[in-house]
Amino acid sequence: MNGLENKQNLTVLAIESSCDETACAIVRDGVVLGESISSQIDIHRLYGGVVPEIASRNHAVNVNAVVDDAIHRAGITLEEVDAIAVTYGAGLIGALLVGVSYAKGLAFALGKPLVAVNHIRGHIAANYLAHPDLKPPYVSLIVSGGHSAVAWVETPTEMTIYGSTVDDAVGEAFDKVARVLNLPYPGGPEIEKLAQSGTPCIPMPKVHTAGRYDFSYSGLKTAVINYVHTAGQKGQAINPADVACSFQDAAVGVLAEHAVALAREKKSKHIAIAGGVGANGRLRQVLTEKAAPYGIHVYFPPKRFCTDNAAMIAMEATVQIRAGTPFSSLELDAQATLPLKAKRAN
Ligand code: KG4
Ligand code: ZN
Repeated sequence: MNGLENKQNLTVLAIESSCDETACAIVRDGVVLGESISSQIDIHRLYGGVVPEIASRNHAVNVNAVVDDAIHRAGITLEEVDAIAVTYGAGLIGALLVGVSYAKGLAFALGKPLVAVNHIRGHIAANYLAHPDLKPPYVSLIVSGGHSAVAWVETPTEMTIYGSTVDDAVGEAFDKVARVLNLPYPGGPEIEKLAQSGTPCIPMPKVHTAGRYDFSYSGLKTAVINYVHTAGQKGQAINPADVACSFQDAAVGVLAEHAVALAREKKSKHIAIAGGVGANGRLRQVLTEKAAPYGIHVYFPPKRFCTDNAAMIAMEATVQIRAGTPFSSLELDAQATLPLKAKRAN
């Protein structure tokens, strides 16, 4: 119990700073009133990936302005906020600390409760922002830069993981393949763009699966890297668009197969996608095509809510509050590694 379960016009202000976006959003009963995001992509692009220390420093510089801007856009005052939510893990520890410290300070100063949100839970909740009709149970396909899993979401707060990556996350594989093709960070959207002018003509290894619903991306990633390096050593030209297209098809195919297989096992008609790779048009297309013959509907958050944002964190906090989850104490600590608090099937 937390006392706000049945509050009308429940208004949550959330802060997200787990990686390279500093973001704040105000969500009232699942409706985004205002949001603000400051992206550091252009800074980290110089280094080909996120530099943790630089990320933390920029969060510290930006967080206050981002919160002010979100409040201004929402057209409300801080006093109208019912709870302060924050991503406390998983992510870069220094980056998380900025958001957690700021949120704790705000909660203390305003005398409002604090809600600690797991970043991946936030990605899952992004679906509720666009699809209020989506209710558990359903299959969640989690595809971010650090996590890849197929899960059965039983209730708003409980889920079971049926399969996950045994090595690299799918977003990580996109980023590493992009690097070998000399594409800028973040690699996922660049691979998708390049793949549009290619064909999937290069044979790729099957994405090895240890368990029934598990996947492994390290073999696929290595195969692409070896293909590019071997061609380079022999002085042979490669067609980068074909490499991107062949890799992308192999990478998304297994995700779609596993998500549909779990939905069929569970006799569910609903799959919802979560995380940055969910913005990928080819994944959306393949998953929808594979699900359609079984009458399974696929839900996607709008693309801007697939990648990191604070609206999804506020939405997950709303779900937790409505479910009666106790508030966090002001002793809350950031956690670089944070398990999903989900059961693991078998
Ligand atoms: O969920 P996210 O924003 O951050 C994490 O929580 O990890 O995911 C970031 C990942 C990156 O690896 C990025 O390359 C990938 O999502 N990504 C994409 C696309 N947009 C972002 N991958 C494939 N296609 C995209 N359009
Ligand atoms: Zn994320």
